[in-house]
Amino acid sequence: MASDSLSITDNRTGKVYELPVSDGTIKATDLRQIKTGPEDFGLMTYDPAYMNTAACRSAITFIDGDKGILRYRGYPIEQLADKASFLEVAYLLAEGELPNQEQLAKWTHDIKFHTYVHTNIIKFLEGFRYDAHPMGMLLGAIGALSTFYPDAKQIKDPGNRYIQRVRLLAKLPTIAAFIFRQSRGLPYDFPDNDLDYIGNYVNMMFSIGGKHRPNKVLQRALEILLILHADHEQNCSTSAVRSVGSSHVDPFSAVSAGIAALYGPLHGGANEAVLEMLDEIGDVKQIPAFVAKVKRGEGRLMGFGHRVYKSYDPRAKLIKRTADEVFAETGLNPKLEIALELERIALEDEYFISRKLYPNVDFYSGLIYQAMGYPTDYFTVLFAVGRLPGWLAQWEEMLKDADQKIARPRQIYTGADERDFIPIEKR
Ligand code: CMC
Repeated sequence: MASDSLSITDNRTGKVYELPVSDGTIKATDLRQIKTGPEDFGLMTYDPAYMNTAACRSAITFIDGDKGILRYRGYPIEQLADKASFLEVAYLLAEGELPNQEQLAKWTHDIKFHTYVHTNIIKFLEGFRYDAHPMGMLLGAIGALSTFYPDAKQIKDPGNRYIQRVRLLAKLPTIAAFIFRQSRGLPYDFPDNDLDYIGNYVNMMFSIGGKHRPNKVLQRALEILLILHADHEQNCSTSAVRSVGSSHVDPFSAVSAGIAALYGPLHGGANEAVLEMLDEIGDVKQIPAFVAKVKRGEGRLMGFGHRVYKSYDPRAKLIKRTADEVFAETGLNPKLEIALELERIALEDEYFISRKLYPNVDFYSGLIYQAMGYPTDYFTVLFAVGRLPGWLAQWEEMLKDADQKIARPRQIYTGADERDFIPIEKR
């Protein structure tokens, strides 16, 4: 018997099966041979929310949730946050290696070349209601981009995929900035390709009358936050991009599905929810009552807990440091005091300790965004701009993976047996 195998005895039949184990996994389809008889479909696994199922092989991001380790393509997140630019990280995630100077120059040029969007996008955005949520606008607008680039359907052509990835990276900040201006009733500002990626994005949001005095500290802080969000292996939105992309739809539609997933308060929407929670608490004195409410199961401590991290989220550590640099420029955010005290109390509380609930990436990011001048409902858009390189790298990897097919989970049917239709007058 091979040592790297798993023996299974089916107590229903007494039969013994030997399944190969590789990379610490068995293939779920190997279980299908385990049957009670010819009519039996074969054994399946039941794994709602994919708690223990590897759905792909990936060489992009490594996380050790117990040790609090996060690496993109082998590089520790701490080093990338310290030294890399956002476009370098985007290249690294996509290509697997850091770019040399020539490669970075081409990558930067290609992205700058595509920053403008068709002006009809403006008409489209203007059609939203005055109080439309920025994430609803973003997912609609990015989905709509697929109609402007019908060639994006050629997903089997690597050259074509490259162009669409570049288009998305170039145009998402432009559209995201338009949405920012729209929500403030300001005229749209067009890309300035003399500026770098982050500088141009910030400029499109904050420039008034063509003038904007960039604050280098705040710009670098935003760049660090975007780098920290750039990929996080098979999270909800990335799985959505992979799953929708596995139908071979164009990448604009697949990314729009990722944006929809990110919108939810348990995922990217948590940074917005943290600020709402801090507002609800209102005062340091109210924290014990709020924590007691959470422990009674009446709501969650937003920005705490993670499916994978069972120790301090390494991104949260870096964000806390960035917060200090930002607040030195902008002055303290009054909610910071509540957040710090909330963290201190939670980290000493048995409820949170026993469940290994620590601050995640979203606990402090919202406070920084607010200090930088972003409205609360815009925070998740910033997360989307940051996460885009990850979605695109994972989409590309999925398409190149010969093991992948259209995503199609199984179910355990729990409904009624066959029964006859009852005419409405007899129901
Ligand atoms: N506050 C209070 N209790 C919590 C929290 C929380 N934030 N998170 C988990 N728990 C409890 C939960 O009630 C459960 O307790 P019990 O065992 O008594 O039923 C236990 O901890 C395990 O929770 P779970 O829901 O099974 O854990 P999960 O892995 O399914 O959920 C999570 C992960 C991130 C959705 C969850 O921790 C949560 O809702 N956190 C708040 C929202 C948040 O901050 N989300 C951002 C995640 S990081 C950024 C991103 O990836 O988008």
